[in-house]
Amino acid sequence: MDNFVIHGGKQLNGEIRIGGSKNAALPILAATLLTRDRCEVKNVPELRDIRSTFELLNYLGKNCFYGYGDFVAEERVPLKLHAPYDLVRKMRASMLVAGPLLARFKKARFSLPGGCSIGLRPIDIHLEAFKKLGASVTYEKGDVVLSAKKLKAARVKFRFPSVGATENLMMCASLIEGRTVLENCAREPEIADLALALKKMGARIKGEGTVRIEIFGAARLKGLKHSVMPDRIETGTFMLACAAAGGRVRLSGVVPKTVDVLTRHLRQAGIKVSAFKDAIEINSSGSKPRPVNIITRPYPGFPTDLQAPWMAFMTRARGACSVHERIFENRFIHAAEFCRMGADISVQDKTAHIRGVDALLGAPVMASDLRAGAALVIAALAAKGKTLVRRVYHIDRGYEKFEDKLRRLGADIERVKT
Ligand code: UD1
Repeated sequence: MDNFVIHGGKQLNGEIRIGGSKNAALPILAATLLTRDRCEVKNVPELRDIRSTFELLNYLGKNCFYGYGDFVAEERVPLKLHAPYDLVRKMRASMLVAGPLLARFKKARFSLPGGCSIGLRPIDIHLEAFKKLGASVTYEKGDVVLSAKKLKAARVKFRFPSVGATENLMMCASLIEGRTVLENCAREPEIADLALALKKMGARIKGEGTVRIEIFGAARLKGLKHSVMPDRIETGTFMLACAAAGGRVRLSGVVPKTVDVLTRHLRQAGIKVSAFKDAIEINSSGSKPRPVNIITRPYPGFPTDLQAPWMAFMTRARGACSVHERIFENRFIHAAEFCRMGADISVQDKTAHIRGVDALLGAPVMASDLRAGAALVIAALAAKGKTLVRRVYHIDRGYEKFEDKLRRLGADIERVKT
């Protein structure tokens, strides 16, 4: 198993390029199931979650090639319509194949994704919406089976703006003739990137990035050529790493407006952030930041995926502040790990109260999920002494060449095997 050994206290300086967005690439790769034509997707990050999707698409019968950021999908044999447990359990986003398979073959069977360390993560919003389009939902041996004689365009109102459900339904509706209206949609930028890809395939879509999306589906979709948008969570993670450790870092190849909310919060905390057309510069003395409260919300609110990295930054605040998690029910496991490094954090229900300490001290800690893992690395970069971060495989799910990029900025970080 891989671990990181980090010697903290070094400022970060220099420039790195941000990679393609994991959360945009995953649904776009799933969307290749909507057509048998060749699809070419560029700027796809090299990550474990992408590799899992690649394996799932190949299992279903697609002929996929993937390397150096390029992904190509072709189709030469009839597809299987069943995403089995072994492939789905690795990654919840596997269920994004359900919408495309249901739309194209009127049938999809996939293993019910289990819970994960950040909560139960049910899929009721997806299933209710598929029913509105005319699908029946049954259960067989731990699998969900969706089927329909004919799907129909409809009006669907989500009870919560779920990112995955908005994407699954957009993909499904793209192959249903007529106008489907989705209401109370998630507004994440990754949804707009998926909409752009679906439009290239022949769907007509209006309103992506707003709460109401209209999809005029086509009887047949064609192949696509698309380049995935930059990863705003990776961008935010490196902004916070520089803010916490100190230094001057330029992040290129980013879309600054997708991290507006973080930029505002960092400025409130006393960090200099300059936004350019497709780059961001962070300038931090590395001294104790002003305490700033956050509440996570759907986009354009503060992203839950940057909650743990923000907490790492606030552990050394000049006073007390709070972090309120409103998206996931159990996303504070990292708080206990920060406390092992000397942080002063108490958690009550969905709120963490942080009293800033003078310094964090290196310690052995364990990543419990992807973003919590990145947050522990940020804490370790700002801490005094040596930190061992265990279970780095969580970080590998979603950060491309994480330690290489940090090393390029001057961090003392090494991957070691146990
Ligand atoms: C996506 C992101 C993930 C991010 C999350 C919230 C991808 C691949 N992943 O996950 O990084 O943390 O958005 O911004 O894009 N819910 C239900 N029923 C459902 C669906 C969701 O109750 O059918 C709940 C979830 O348990 C969670 C909340 O809604 O509490 C948000 O989930 P959702 O927006 O669906 O997140 P994902 O698409 O899974």
